[in-house]
Amino acid sequence: MQVIIRQAKKTDLNQLMKLESEYSAYVEQFYFFCKPFAEIKSALRKFRLKQMESKNFLFLVAECNKQVIGFFIVGIKKNNSFFKDKKAGFIFDAFVQSKYRKKGLTKKMFNESLIWFKKQRINYIGLNVSPKNKFGLNAWQKLGFEEINQYRVFRL
Ligand SMILES: CC(C)(COP(=O)(O)OP(=O)(O)OC[C@H]1O[C@@H](n2cnc3c(N)ncnc32)[C@H](O)[C@@H]1OP(=O)(O)O)[C@@H](O)C(=O)NCCC(=O)NCCS
Repeated sequence: MQVIIRQAKKTDLNQLMKLESEYSAYVEQFYFFCKPFAEIKSALRKFRLKQMESKNFLFLVAECNKQVIGFFIVGIKKNNSFFKDKKAGFIFDAFVQSKYRKKGLTKKMFNESLIWFKKQRINYIGLNVSPKNKFGLNAWQKLGFEEINQYRVFRL
């Protein structure tokens, strides 16, 4: 299996939206406040294009046989003045189609993002993951992420 890791481009959007539909179906089970994919599809497409074009984001895709099979979206978040660092890295979204998982593709994309983060003088990278998301928890732990926080929700 020959996989290329590269930056996303506008012409990937159609294939990406197919993956987004699978990604949404997966994360919807953890986040009750997310709208269903059908309702956000067109706004999400525009949002993804903006991320691709922004210098504050690195939008990577994994491509196999001319098909996009995964994506990895990272960026820079500005901190307020109470933080030691003015900015921090963030992993916004990561997805690999199920049959290509556990083959090291996220690891490759993560390593690629580290080069970009280092160039931007980022000292640490955050992300959110649901405690119910076994794939996410496993992958982030293996990649070296420590748990330092728990986001909780109170439903009224
Ligand atoms: C999370 C996800 C992106 C990981 O992608 P992946 O390409 O399978 O990850 P990798 O193969 O690069 O694995 C990275 C490390 O995590 C480990 N890992 C990944 N999935 C695992 C699993 N289900 N169980 C145990 N370990 C796992 C790998 O063994 C690897 O560790 P190693 O470097 O010690 O070998 C993928 O499972 C996915 O798309 N999940 C659904 C969407 C999702 O949860 N996104 C993250 C939201 S926070």
